[in-house]
Amino acid sequence: MTVYAVYNIKGGVGKTTSTVNLSYLSARQNDPTLIWDLDPQAGTSFYLGVKPKVKGGGRGLLENRHDLDVLLRMTGYPNLDLLPADLSYRHFDTLLSEQRKPLEGIKRVLKPLRKEYENIFLDCPPGLTLLSESIFEVADVLLVPLIPTTLSLRAYNRLVRFLSKQEHKKMLLLPFFNLVNLNKPIHKVVSQTVPSKHAIFCRHFIEESNLIEAMGVKRAPVTSFAKGTPDATRYEELWNEVQNRYKNHTKWLGKNS
Ligand SMILES: Nc1ncnc2c1ncn2[C@@H]1O[C@H](COP(=O)(O)OP(=O)(O)OP(=O)(O)O)[C@@H](O)[C@H]1O
Ligand SMILES: [Mg+2]
Repeated sequence: MTVYAVYNIKGGVGKTTSTVNLSYLSARQNDPTLIWDLDPQAGTSFYLGVKPKVKGGGRGLLENRHDLDVLLRMTGYPNLDLLPADLSYRHFDTLLSEQRKPLEGIKRVLKPLRKEYENIFLDCPPGLTLLSESIFEVADVLLVPLIPTTLSLRAYNRLVRFLSKQEHKKMLLLPFFNLVNLNKPIHKVVSQTVPSKHAIFCRHFIEESNLIEAMGVKRAPVTSFAKGTPDATRYEELWNEVQNRYKNHTKWLGKNS
């Protein structure tokens, strides 16, 4: 099982949109895939047409009160399930802090699912909180969508500084640009020069697009309702790059462990 956390300190950068499209592509290649919509805003649950309600809420999950199989929802897409959002997730930090080992909380919830799913995506709320730290404990890959602006890069640098002080050596950090508007000089320069100078950045990026914005009306991944369009193809290229990077990373970890 590989856990992909789609995360950024900043809000509105495309975490939810990316989660829905990349997880759909994972499921489409026949990998049993689960998304956990960790954000009480419930964007992923909305996009996938699932009611944002979890019996027992965040506390019930952390205390293992209900069988997870009862809480998981099918999305209507083969191989793609969802653990929905719940309004109670807004208290996740408090709930985690009441646990004996707060940082292990999210990892413990996911443990029984290890055998069932090949890939698990976490749609994370913005912020740098106890919940975020608990997510860093379980994530194999931290996918960070970024808008190519200076403020966005500053926030990313703060994240890198924070992570460098922690023990997350095995986690692969993968930033990529989203909402790129190539008509804007700053977007054009940043999205092209940063990945060529800093190998950590994904080479593929997602452009700002009306089709992607229309996901809110279609309530479906653009990779599904607009398959074959340049926007869907960009997500496919990004997903291929992400998987290759992770494959190389695990090889490297194998050699250096
Ligand atoms: N590539 C894109 N092109 C056009 N619109 C996009 C693109 N990516 C995201 N959006 C739009 O930007 C808005 C924010 O996207 P999204 O909800 O995915 O961000 P988020 O990081 O999950 O936000 P939050 O921090 O609030 O959870 C949404 O209206 C979405 O439709
Ligand atoms: Mg979101």
